[in-house]
Amino acid sequence: MQQVSTTFHFHNMETGSLVSIDNLSKEEILKILRTAAYFEEHPNQKILDGKIVATLFFEPSTRTRLSFETAVQRLGGRIIGFSDPAATSTSKGETLKDTIKMVSNYADLIVMRHYLEGAAQYATEVTDIPIINAGDGANQHPSQTLLDLYSLYKTQGTLENLTITMVGDLKYGRTVHSLLMAMRHFNPTFRFVACKELQMPEFYKQFCLDNGIQFTEHEDFNQAVIDTSDIIYMTRVQRERFTDIMEYEKVKDLYSLNNAMLETSRQNLRILHPLPRVNEINRDVDDNPKAYYFQQAKNGLYARQAIICRALGIDLPVK
Ligand code: CP
Repeated sequence: MQQVSTTFHFHNMETGSLVSIDNLSKEEILKILRTAAYFEEHPNQKILDGKIVATLFFEPSTRTRLSFETAVQRLGGRIIGFSDPAATSTSKGETLKDTIKMVSNYADLIVMRHYLEGAAQYATEVTDIPIINAGDGANQHPSQTLLDLYSLYKTQGTLENLTITMVGDLKYGRTVHSLLMAMRHFNPTFRFVACKELQMPEFYKQFCLDNGIQFTEHEDFNQAVIDTSDIIYMTRVQRERFTDIMEYEKVKDLYSLNNAMLETSRQNLRILHPLPRVNEINRDVDDNPKAYYFQQAKNGLYARQAIICRALGIDLPVK
């Protein structure tokens, strides 16, 4: 996967915003994955010297913010930003447009998580510096998808022809929406396991039909589904997207994976989860070699180093 020489340089940059995984061609995706592999070998380099990256998190995050910030620090750049919008002038009524314009005066790149779908796209329309979407409502989470693809490649040795079972909140889960779209390049077969209230939205099912992607839908997370999967992608029910908490209470614990359920699963099966988890993966799965969610989160560092370099137009010694 990895082909390296020893130089890197800055070229005349266009903005390299990443708003939706759909912004990337198959070749661009594969190049980012090769670059992630390069950074996994060489995580500490001084290639962002003089660069300032702003991380603007209007919604809570542990992995995405800290791995982006670690990525910048390991590449020698500097960070500004916030993780608590209540401590910014947003709380005085400043608009998102004005916030983005202000931060653009200070930083070379903005990484933003926002609760509104379309917020990242909107940000690209009011600034000339690149925007990386770190999650916009229930819409997209493209940097998560790139680390997911890197995890698929590392565990399966290929991205092609995989059977991927997505379980849980397929309605509001932006990670499954982005992953589904990215996989159109790689001939996947999907199983969508969800209760009626949290089924995969029609838009994404139509996307599968339009792109010749096979899928089946299940309410029952049964043994036959588990035993014929290469990847089980568990998701948390997104409490923050429910307007009626009683509706959330009704569906929050419907799907839970435990160790006994994995006994007859494929050797190559790996369990992924974007995290955080609540009750959807029992703690007894954590020591099973098929559990991959903590390594998956670690892969986020390398994928995000690659995404930042692309955004800033930095050529790396990766073909
Ligand atoms: N996977 C993910 O987006 O995690 P955080 O919400 O902790 O960033």
